[in-house]
Amino acid sequence: MTAFGGTRTTPPRRPESPFSSWSFVGVLLVALVLQLPTSFGRCGEPPLYQSMQLKGTPKSSYLPGEKIFYECKPGYYYSFNYVLKTFCEKNSTWFPVDEACYKKTCPQLGEPLNGEVVYVNGTTTFGSQAHYVCNEGYNLIGVDILYCNVSGNNVEWSDSPPQCEKILCQPPPQIANGEFTNSHKDTFEYNEEVTYRCKPSDGPDEYSLVGESKLVCSGRNQWSPDPPECKVVKCEYPALENGRLASGFGKKFQYKSEVTFECLEGFYLEGSSTIVCGADSTWEPKIPKCIKGFY
Ligand SMILES: *[C@@H]1O[C@H](CO)[C@@H](O)[C@H](O)[C@H]1NC(C)=O
Ligand SMILES: *[C@@H]1O[C@H](CO)[C@@H](O)[C@H](O)[C@H]1NC(C)=O
Ligand SMILES: *[C@@H]1O[C@H](CO)[C@@H](O)[C@H](O)[C@H]1NC(C)=O
Repeated sequence: MTAFGGTRTTPPRRPESPFSSWSFVGVLLVALVLQLPTSFGRCGEPPLYQSMQLKGTPKSSYLPGEKIFYECKPGYYYSFNYVLKTFCEKNSTWFPVDEACYKKTCPQLGEPLNGEVVYVNGTTTFGSQAHYVCNEGYNLIGVDILYCNVSGNNVEWSDSPPQCEKILCQPPPQIANGEFTNSHKDTFEYNEEVTYRCKPSDGPDEYSLVGESKLVCSGRNQWSPDPPECKVVKCEYPALENGRLASGFGKKFQYKSEVTFECLEGFYLEGSSTIVCGADSTWEPKIPKCIKGFY
């Protein structure tokens, strides 16, 4: 009880002149007698705001009448010469104040060539995003999302805007025994097509084109689907015991040649009656059988 020794353990009723009044002493004595907690009549931690922050370090309690000052958070500004402050009221609540700072705005971004920019938040203020997309046939070079971020004392886009680069393809691959259209060109446009075909063969069997003949430039130096193969595909004569060919007669059976079988009288067919010469020179599905009896 070093009573009036300047240890301000309880709040003064009249902060203007706390130690000059006898009524203060009375209140103090009453408070001491009642052994009230030291935080009685005080305000707690300062209120938090989205756009403003406390100047200085916060304390856990404040005396009635005590003022606190705010400033705009980074990324925010206030346009008026207005002191952002509030004070602790007598009933231990903070005098309510409104958010007073506004989001700063990032500089206007230009429309990209061959693409567009979308302000997904409908604004270019602090915290908002700009999304870039390129037109069909163009590749985005750079980052596609820019953020309006704090930068020093101001706000700034997080990156420089990307560019939309025209998609081009180098010629598709050369293939053995084959060639493709426009092979003299050294670049192809997006969606441009080439058609492969097989060269005439020097030997007795022609080359078959296995795969897709048309390829399209579908991305930067990207052709789809994969290029075809030109190779000799030769299936053996599809001999069928107790049966015969019903269609697809020929001497040579090349890629995709199709034959149909039938069985002799008194035999029935087990398997597929139609088979096709596949890319690896075998019949697909395999040659059927003619089995004695009736189905
Ligand atoms: C405190 O006092 C103020 C002004 O006298 C009043 O507006 C506010 O509602 C009071 N708060 C409480 C919690 O009593
Ligand atoms: C902006 O929009 C994006 C995408 O809708 C969202 O994730 C983000 O929270 C928004 N930012 C603000 C500050 O509203
Ligand atoms: C910008 O802000 C975004 C969202 O808060 C964050 O993810 C990104 O890292 C920041 N970029 C820079 C360059 O500060």
